[in-house]
Amino acid sequence: MSDSIVDLLSGFDGGRLWADLEQLATFQDADAPPFTRRAFGPVYEQARSWLRERMEEAGLATRRDAAGSLIGHRPGTRDLPLLVVGSHIDTVHGAGRFDGALGVLAAVEIARVLGSSGHRLSHPLEVVDFTGEEPNRFGSSCVGSRAWAGRLDARLLALTDERGESLAQAVGRAGADIERVSESVRDVGSLAAYVELHIEQGPVLETDEFDVGVVNGIVGIRRIGARLSGQPSHAGTTPIPRRRDALAAASELVLAVEHEARQAEGELIGTVGRALVEPNAPNVVPGFVELAFEVRSLDEARLDLAIQRIETAGKEAGAARGVDVVFDVLSELPGVATDPRVVSALEDGAIEAGSRTTTMPSWGGHDASQIAHIAPVGMLFAPSRDGLSHHRDEWTTPEQCANAGRALLAGLVVLDERLAADTTA
Ligand code: CO
Repeated sequence: MSDSIVDLLSGFDGGRLWADLEQLATFQDADAPPFTRRAFGPVYEQARSWLRERMEEAGLATRRDAAGSLIGHRPGTRDLPLLVVGSHIDTVHGAGRFDGALGVLAAVEIARVLGSSGHRLSHPLEVVDFTGEEPNRFGSSCVGSRAWAGRLDARLLALTDERGESLAQAVGRAGADIERVSESVRDVGSLAAYVELHIEQGPVLETDEFDVGVVNGIVGIRRIGARLSGQPSHAGTTPIPRRRDALAAASELVLAVEHEARQAEGELIGTVGRALVEPNAPNVVPGFVELAFEVRSLDEARLDLAIQRIETAGKEAGAARGVDVVFDVLSELPGVATDPRVVSALEDGAIEAGSRTTTMPSWGGHDASQIAHIAPVGMLFAPSRDGLSHHRDEWTTPEQCANAGRALLAGLVVLDERLAADTTA
């Protein structure tokens, strides 16, 4: 292990990080206690003003870009593309204290460590709090990171909430200059890498007693709709062989999705999360069912195969009952590859920081999913107690936060050294 990393790690103050997490958690929307802080509300802006002060204290030069993202800059020793580290501080309704916040505040602590040690990275460093990562009332998400990737287009900006306010107006209200949103676009090549620490939001790290997970890809998500049309009929007088029971066929389809996920042993997950039954009465054989399901995996071929098998099972279940089954694709979100150099630097850094480390996919999307369109990305996960997230009891211990923060610091230093060495070779 290099001496500089040892020195830097000893300067990382887990107590200071924890105090920041507690302080940030006091910024709460009045109508949704205890920890909700939705994007584009007044409390969100107050929290970002507080965060901006923390960034300034850490020696970062701060600014807001045209999409409202808060950026803290620290120069490097060489004229190289940026190393960027960050996440988001907005929350969903009914959220906890760690989703997004840990990644941003650990990055601020890293800036403090670099500042007080005088250690200069070769690359300039940017700490970023991306605007509005969580799904918002306009029907979009990842507003700030989409803007960087040039994917915050006119259609998204024109989306309105129930009061008729547009996303563009909401971003603009916070003082961002959305007319010039194109200026927030980052060119391919302008970022050497983007690294994000986030809570796992699942049970794997806690169950297997790992300190950190190095993410080896963000899964692709396919959502499929199924319409099953049978025949409504009298529940007393229609014998079973004469029925065209859409719900009985749909039930087999639900089990087929579960079966695919169970067979895949952690490589794929699937859920039927929505069902609509008609006429939905206890004394009528169901004549029509609409289902929506999703399947997630890192492996696109596996996704294709699973969906093919689920559809076949559904058609067979329908054919056996005289139920017509039609599928259509609702959405296809491709998986996101992490960069092998970033992944190995994060892995080696985590090990240097003394963390028990594993690799794992991210089963949900993050700001990194957007930034991957323009730059190499990597992510670290910290444990979530009971796998709980988007919940007031979301919890990561002070020690787990500090361990993950140290792993992030060491990973960044390793990444900086390796990428800088590549450019001189
Ligand atoms: Co998040």
